[in-house]
Amino acid sequence: MALHRWRIALALIVLAAIPGLLIPTAASAQQTQAVELPRIEKREGGHLLLVDGEPYLMLGAQANNSSNYPAMLPKVWPMMARLNANTLEIPVAWEQLEPEEGRFDFSYLEALLQGARANNLRLVLLWFASWKNTGPNYAPAWVKTNTQRFPRMTTPEGTAHYVLSPHGRSTLEADKRAFVQLMTWLRDNDPQRTVIMVQPQNEVGAYGQKRDHSPEAEHLFAGPIPSELAQHVGRSGSWTEAFGPSLADAAFNSWYTARYIDEIAAAGQQVLDLPMFTNAALSDPFAQAGTGGGASGGPDMPVIDVWKAAAPHIDFVAPDIYLREERQVAEVMRLYARPDNPLMVPEIGNAADFARYFWIALGRGAIGFAPFGMDYTGYSNYPLGAKELDAATIEAFASKYRLFAPMAGAWARIAAENPTWGTAKPKDESGQSTRMGRWTVNVSYNEWQFGSRDSPWLTSDPHPNEGQPVGGAVVAQTGPDTFLVAASDARLNFGLADAQPGENGTMLKVEEGTLNPDGSFAMRRVWNGDQTDYGLNFTSQPVLLRVTMGTYR
Ligand code: DGJ
Repeated sequence: MALHRWRIALALIVLAAIPGLLIPTAASAQQTQAVELPRIEKREGGHLLLVDGEPYLMLGAQANNSSNYPAMLPKVWPMMARLNANTLEIPVAWEQLEPEEGRFDFSYLEALLQGARANNLRLVLLWFASWKNTGPNYAPAWVKTNTQRFPRMTTPEGTAHYVLSPHGRSTLEADKRAFVQLMTWLRDNDPQRTVIMVQPQNEVGAYGQKRDHSPEAEHLFAGPIPSELAQHVGRSGSWTEAFGPSLADAAFNSWYTARYIDEIAAAGQQVLDLPMFTNAALSDPFAQAGTGGGASGGPDMPVIDVWKAAAPHIDFVAPDIYLREERQVAEVMRLYARPDNPLMVPEIGNAADFARYFWIALGRGAIGFAPFGMDYTGYSNYPLGAKELDAATIEAFASKYRLFAPMAGAWARIAAENPTWGTAKPKDESGQSTRMGRWTVNVSYNEWQFGSRDSPWLTSDPHPNEGQPVGGAVVAQTGPDTFLVAASDARLNFGLADAQPGENGTMLKVEEGTLNPDGSFAMRRVWNGDQTDYGLNFTSQPVLLRVTMGTYR
């Protein structure tokens, strides 16, 4: 499903015609139900994910890797409820779908979709197949062992590398056949659209070497870059001429990996046109392209354009965020939120300090966000994520989802159509600001709810948030002088930028509340007096404010 195709994707499902499909409310065997497919639309200010035809903000969480079996699901659902999540991301492994070639087993999918519906959750399926963190560990044994039919990349020395070659036509065909079976099963068994998106493969590319060195790959690498790519990136010549020596191998591997995955995605969408995306193991966003780590060939920042040219059926490429520093995370989100690519964060570390990056994601118009490793199976991927999913760690994410869950769709629409800005506490704990129209929005940290840290007349203890990686805010500008603000562990102030002589800015009204489904504001109370005298002070329990600014002379 390409973004530019504004599809009215209305699937008419004749329920009675599908054997084994149980819709208990179906009074008549002839009953027909129209279900709109999820889709992504481009809006003036960003992108909108539509589910059941309505704006949707994916308040997601990803289960651990090996939680993809019916016996594990009871340890997944309670965590989703605890988080106030609306969407579970979970793997479907090629090895479990097609344990023997041509024999397909859908029993896990049956349990998964049934459980998701019972728990009022949507699903994003992660197709772990030719690539999972680059390796083929989730491919069936009959694929892993047959290197004649399913070739691995060749090293420069001529030995087998661990990664499957993206130039392996029969590997592509076998993966595609299985993926089409998966999508066909969904078409026939998910008229409710419990599954809203699919991620074909997981963290693709290669470590250890940057591309295949088989004779076929060497031949291709010696030639010019493909003309579609040349047209898209406005460069031509050899891979090295077009991308420079440090990026040429990664660009080459990206092109062929993305073409491979695009063909699989297209075949799946032919059956059921769901939004599809590919996630990236990231390099350092501040490193010189091709030198900052990450998986070579995955949709990492330096090769997003290559992926866009190669994979028109991949609706977006998405960052897996385990970088810890605010400046890195902000830069990654800036680079993935593009007019041709909605920001979605399919993985972010599940340690509490990552939770504040939810605010930056919302500020970049993210259509979804999901901490990784969220279930009660007792596994911890520390030092990437949390040592332990204790109550405080879970609450760092849950508190934010709790605020957004009842108004997620309304927020999604507002964010897609209005300027937004999000920020999180940086390493040096300094404040941040931005300009929105004629207003400057200032965010600061480690302030009590009353007074100022540096006040000479009212001294205070150091704030307990000092040294703690918590705090952040998101602001949507809904009119020249009106803003929606949500934040945690932060203080916000608005100031008049470029004030005329004698002109002063003032808060006319600060209302706490929520959003109605139509986007209108439902006020609970007005903040004034101590609640506004020193700025708008947010604790660890975020709230939504509508701020109306004005001026006087
Ligand atoms: C990123 C991968 O995409 C996940 O599946 C998982 O392996 C994490 N890394 C590490 O826990």
